[in-house]
Amino acid sequence: MFLTKEEERMLAGEKGPAAKKAMQLLVALGDVLGADRLVPISSAQIAGVSYGNIGDAGMELLEDWASSGARAKVKATLNPSGMDLDKWRDMGVDEGYHDRQLRIIKAFERMGVDITCTCTPYLVGNRPGKGDTIAWSESSAIGYANSVLGARTNREGGPSALAAAVTGRTPHYGLHIDANRRPTAVIDVKAALATTYDFSLLGYTVGRMLGSGIPLFTGIGHADSDRLKILSAALAASGGIAMFHVRGVTPEAGAGGKRKGDAGEKGLERLCIDQRELEASREMLSASGEPDLVCIGCPHCSPQELRDLSRLLKGKKVSRGKGLWVWTSRGVYDRAKREGSIGAIERAGGKVFADTCMVVCPLEKSGFSHMATNSCKAAHYVPSTAKLKSSVAELHTAVGKVMEAEGA
Ligand code: F3S
Repeated sequence: MFLTKEEERMLAGEKGPAAKKAMQLLVALGDVLGADRLVPISSAQIAGVSYGNIGDAGMELLEDWASSGARAKVKATLNPSGMDLDKWRDMGVDEGYHDRQLRIIKAFERMGVDITCTCTPYLVGNRPGKGDTIAWSESSAIGYANSVLGARTNREGGPSALAAAVTGRTPHYGLHIDANRRPTAVIDVKAALATTYDFSLLGYTVGRMLGSGIPLFTGIGHADSDRLKILSAALAASGGIAMFHVRGVTPEAGAGGKRKGDAGEKGLERLCIDQRELEASREMLSASGEPDLVCIGCPHCSPQELRDLSRLLKGKKVSRGKGLWVWTSRGVYDRAKREGSIGAIERAGGKVFADTCMVVCPLEKSGFSHMATNSCKAAHYVPSTAKLKSSVAELHTAVGKVMEAEGA
């Protein structure tokens, strides 16, 4: 792999032990993956933040990186951590877990990483533009960045994203190359997509049918940012899909659906998705029994989603013994608090957590046994990460399972 003089100096240790370690990791990765060189990045998003996921070994490794002088050269934010950094007690998190989670956050802080912990960094200031080269590692954020923002990232692991942040570079292969960003399958959508939940079902269905590749969706017409973010999450949960196109909507599938210089859709695999396929995904993701907890915010809620939820809860309250837990980023939380959405959700008996999510926090400590959600990604992972049963439903229906009329 070709290295510039500056990169060779980093590899030789002239820029310190941390830059050397980071460069060694990127060069080894690049060699294995067939990269011809490294390319500069403008943004990093680093996974491997939750203490529940990385444990003591991961925590100590990050502290070593920080002590050896690792410092982020570019804007870098974090994946959700294992707890709300303020309201951790409300989640059932104990002191030992809390202390270790804070050590992880502090290690990142010492490395100059912005300790915004979210899978939607693009809503809170880490928002690359079209054509920008980046190194992100949360699967839904990767899908959104490639597909909706038109930025370029491979599916980075936590260590490679950290190494990219420290060197300001990433190996040039995969989705950094034009030819690898073209659609590999056409998805004719015949199902009615009325809600964000429908987009989640669509993504989950296509992910499990394709497994990998780059789908080009046709027949969707319009999709706002919230729908595209939940679509990104679901595609990556059931399949390894890091990029998609929506004809006439996403930046590399411009109006009319033909990409500039694209050979077109001829010869590509075609799938037709109708209501029955979505229903099959719903059944797959829905355990029997009644939920006692509803989780909304996978990916993390946008300000608009919190506004919509607060309106939906008007005149209702969470039933005794049940829970409504909502997940978002710290930046969106602060904004929604000013706007009144957080207060409205809390008055109805819901809890809104920032910095973490239902999949990476110790949800098993919540005391609930069955989670309902409008996100297929959350329903896919929670039974294995937290041992709760899970099921999926459209937002109104899900929320209705744990709410009753005020005064009832
Ligand atoms: Fe985000 Fe957690 Fe879902 S990281 S995409 S809220 S599983």
